[in-house]
Amino acid sequence: MKNPELGDSLPAAHPNEATLSLLRLRRSTPADFMAEPGPDADALSDMLTIAARVPDHRRVVPFRFIRFQGEARIRFGDTLGKVFLANTPDAGENKVALERNRFCRAPVVVAVISSVNRAHRTPEWEQILSAGAVCQNLLLAANAHGFAAQWLTEWYAFDEQVAKALMLSENERIAGFVYIGSTNDSPKERGRPNLNSIISDY
Ligand SMILES: Cc1cc2nc3c(=O)[nH]c(=O)nc-3n(C[C@H](O)[C@H](O)[C@H](O)COP(=O)(O)O)c2cc1C
Repeated sequence: MKNPELGDSLPAAHPNEATLSLLRLRRSTPADFMAEPGPDADALSDMLTIAARVPDHRRVVPFRFIRFQGEARIRFGDTLGKVFLANTPDAGENKVALERNRFCRAPVVVAVISSVNRAHRTPEWEQILSAGAVCQNLLLAANAHGFAAQWLTEWYAFDEQVAKALMLSENERIAGFVYIGSTNDSPKERGRPNLNSIISDY
């Protein structure tokens, strides 16, 4: 079944080795190691559909997406360069050029925006957690579609001028910029938590 309709019966569990393997082996790829091609319109749309399919207490939908593709990445790079220079007036040309190029590291960048509804009785904390789950779902969907992905914030997720340029409302914050592209990189395993140190029995 592709995308279910409202009220369709769905399986409660999905025993599937390929899914377990993705979850066990998943790794991020640094945006610096990404290249064309990116997902086509249908693949990206499917990734965002999957990403939006997260637990969301009382269906607040406390998130939204901004897509950056093609020339839009260059336009946003102009903004990043300008804001960076305003914040760091003595930055050298090379540093500014690096900032201008950030979104051109990957063919597609998706900003996941956390949009908290403060008037809603669902606690703000829960709404923020849902937006985080969206980012993780998007990473997994991108990997399962055959693309490398990385969830980044970097400085520009926290900059007021950048937020203004993206027309974020006062209840909105950037949960992450998810970079998506192709790669030849084979990321190495990184340290993972020692389960014994994070599990206790009540
Ligand atoms: C909210 C959030 C923001 C992140 N921002 C950055 C970042 O700005 N720069 C960075 O190098 N890694 C950042 N990371 C970490 C990477 O996305 C990635 O998880 C990390 O490199 C570990 O790789 P793994 O996903 O393969 O375990 C961030 C992760 C999260 C959850």
